[in-house]
Amino acid sequence: MCGIIGITSLQGNFREPIGKVVRRCLERLEYRGYDSVGIAVIKGSSIEVRKGKGKIAEVSVRLSFDEVDGLTAIGHTRWATHGKPSDENAHPHTDCTGRVAVVHNGIISNFLELKEELIRKGHVFRSETDTEVLAHLIEEYLKMGYKPFDAFKAALSKIRGAYAFVVAMAQEPNRLYFARNTSPLVIGIGNGANFIASDIPAFLEFTNTVIVLRDGEYGYIEPGKVYIERDGLPVNVEERIRLISWTPEMASKEGYPHFMLKEIHEQPIAINSTLAGIDEKAFNEVINAILNSRKVFILGAGTSYHAGLIGDYLFTSMLGLDTHTLISSEYKKYLNSISDGDIAIAISQSGETIDTLVAIRAFRERGAKIVAVSNVIDSAIPRESNYVIYTRAGPEIGVAATKTFTTQLVVLTVLALKMGIAMGKLTNNEYRDMMDLLNKVPNLVQGVMASVEGKVKALSGYISRKQSAYYLSRGIGVPLSMEGALKLKEIAYIHAEAYPAGESKHGPIALVEGGYPVVFSILDDDNVDALLGNVMEMKARDAYTIGLVPEKYVGKFKELLNVTLEMPNIDYRVAPIVYVVPMQLLAYYTAVAKGYDPDKPRNLAKTVTVE
Ligand code: G6P
Repeated sequence: MCGIIGITSLQGNFREPIGKVVRRCLERLEYRGYDSVGIAVIKGSSIEVRKGKGKIAEVSVRLSFDEVDGLTAIGHTRWATHGKPSDENAHPHTDCTGRVAVVHNGIISNFLELKEELIRKGHVFRSETDTEVLAHLIEEYLKMGYKPFDAFKAALSKIRGAYAFVVAMAQEPNRLYFARNTSPLVIGIGNGANFIASDIPAFLEFTNTVIVLRDGEYGYIEPGKVYIERDGLPVNVEERIRLISWTPEMASKEGYPHFMLKEIHEQPIAINSTLAGIDEKAFNEVINAILNSRKVFILGAGTSYHAGLIGDYLFTSMLGLDTHTLISSEYKKYLNSISDGDIAIAISQSGETIDTLVAIRAFRERGAKIVAVSNVIDSAIPRESNYVIYTRAGPEIGVAATKTFTTQLVVLTVLALKMGIAMGKLTNNEYRDMMDLLNKVPNLVQGVMASVEGKVKALSGYISRKQSAYYLSRGIGVPLSMEGALKLKEIAYIHAEAYPAGESKHGPIALVEGGYPVVFSILDDDNVDALLGNVMEMKARDAYTIGLVPEKYVGKFKELLNVTLEMPNIDYRVAPIVYVVPMQLLAYYTAVAKGYDPDKPRNLAKTVTVE
């Protein structure tokens, strides 16, 4: 994964040393990896590198990043793939002369052969990383008399694999070179400074004018210039400029202790914006494509997969469609059943998850049309899709997805409702009622947060002392439970498993003993009695039962529950958007109670760009 940043500025543009600016940009990329961090600043005819193992907060103080001044700099925060987390393996990597510095996100698949060749030519490697080969390759071409840009291009032509590179060369102190293949890279066009980074929030403090680079593009930025090339031909830069509506505040914590808590609290606004931003034309095109399709596949990874499962539930139960929902990385199972006329709905908040990208490429090759649901404009998955629907959650920085999940659900629910009309499965009145309800969801979410947050916080103390938990429900509550369990697992490191409540008797209940936490979600009138039975079964084993229960059923469940979290009475088709909020809060407060940083769970990264 890794986060990279490059800045090239005019004299006097920043009122602080560039090292400090880079450090701040890196803080906003830290969700992409936090094994090590480093910066490189061009200083006259050489490049000063400071880097080390550890998180930004610690390394940047230890190595005084904030004091390093200059006009052009690069920075990197690492999620280790090749080479363990260490000072030596931290980026930037330099060539033998120290005049070429490279940061990289991705994997160079042919690095071993390149490294052997370079060692034979006398190059001395100082890290175990794949990245370092690029610095030495460039050095090699410079030695042969190539101009910097030509040396960069020649070196690139040798490299196989996935990459986003940013390269500083002392020879050209006002320029940074870049290249993208698979790993994301975005240019930020500022006034007196240009930026290049893995993601927009990195430089949002300075500009919201961006160019999202595409695979196969490379070039350079200078303080007042952006040059992009592809296959040796210049790309029209003006045509590619986008103004995004994200604000700098969106990329800062604004008084919240963590991005995750801020993003949970931003859900009413994010849902509102997504509803307000519904593009009827785009939806109609997607609906036509689905109606004329042979099979409908839905795919995603992690939380996006769970949103897909909830969409699948609506498409199947409400519309009678025979949808197939899959985890992106498991697409191969379907290769023989995809053909012309199929539709695949690819859900990805970042639009860059490699598993989903690889899967949609395979679907396209076999003739399927792709509908992307994404939060990031112009990112890779939307670009490689036939249709795009954007969520409008704003930037999400906490590693665990929260507001992007609820906005994905909004999009999928609206899609299902509109399809319901188009297919004659819903009357106009039913549709209107459901849309009215959706429009009330921001308020309902707000209300639930206000009413349960204290109780959830108190509950987190109990959960934080447990090693495992079950999340049980039925119907649409099952994928919702999967999301709740994933949240607890990924940030609080508690083994949490979701199960259809009925199935819990076929194995999981064997683990239940006194005090074992079981979180029940009651959403759907049809399943209330069966769930009541399941709660009783758990209670009989002395489980610690927690229930998300609609107000109208609170009386029915109260005696059986150790903790009741009262939810509004709400149609089951919309309920997951509201019910997930207490689950997010429970995971958040449990992580905090255990002393973990919920924004940066160990071993995880937000955008996974390696298969
Ligand atoms: C990673 C993140 C998850 C996210 C998943 C899919 O695993 O940690 O929070 O749900 O990737 O990401 P995407 O950007 O494709 O939705």
